[in-house]
Amino acid sequence: MHVKNTLTEYGIISKLLHWLSATLLIFQIPLGFYLVDLDFGAVRLNVENIHTIIGLSIFYLVIIRLLNNIFNPPPKLDPSIFSGQKFIAKLNHILLYVAILSITISGILKKLFNGESLVIFFKEIKIQDNFELADQFYNIHIYSNYTIVVLIALHISAVIIHKLFFDENLLRKIL
Ligand code: HEM
Ligand code: HEM
Repeated sequence: MHVKNTLTEYGIISKLLHWLSATLLIFQIPLGFYLVDLDFGAVRLNVENIHTIIGLSIFYLVIIRLLNNIFNPPPKLDPSIFSGQKFIAKLNHILLYVAILSITISGILKKLFNGESLVIFFKEIKIQDNFELADQFYNIHIYSNYTIVVLIALHISAVIIHKLFFDENLLRKIL
């Protein structure tokens, strides 16, 4: 098994990064929806802290994944795949990255404009509060979450459709 990606296969680094971020996201999205329904109190504060720590971890992970994609480029899609399909696969991957960045950055800005401080890249950050902007970033946080749920569903559907209709096991590429 290769550590780095080759022209045709994902290596261990990309596979680990893929499944680590997928696992954290699959846990974090329901945690966020659960969090907003909690009454104010100690439990909510604890859940919000966990949400923030996992959210920031996903933010660092996506930056590492983007750097990994530059220095360790993903394999080329099979030449037999027609170009429209390649475009859709690529677009889905790009939009997943955009959605993760939008969710994490809006979450961070919502908290900062709420007057709360956050430690980002080992540095404590605190800015002047602005509740109107905090509300706007929160809306972005919510809509980006709906978007990523659709993108993940499409992403997983592609794997299932390839298996059912083209007898092609895409999952093997990333396992
Ligand atoms: C839940 C969050 C997930 C996210 C955000 C995500 C994101 C991504 C991204 C961005 C890529 C492209 C990697 C790159 O080249 O940069 C990718 C590849 C892939 N993912 Fe996921 N993924 C998720 C979950 C899953 C799940 C649950 C499955 C399995 C059912 C899966 C199967 C695959 C496969 C097979 C590929 C390789 C596709 C190819 O290059 O042909 N992913 N994923
Ligand atoms: C990919 C990572 C993240 C995901 C998937 C995610 C998901 C969610 C979801 C689904 C909600 C509920 C939205 C609603 O229906 O009202 C939520 C709320 C929230 N998120 Fe995130 N989030 C992420 C990262 C972050 C980060 C990095 C921060 C801040 C550092 C953050 C701060 C918040 C806050 C403050 C709330 C509102 C909680 C409240 O109402 O008290 N999130 N998040």
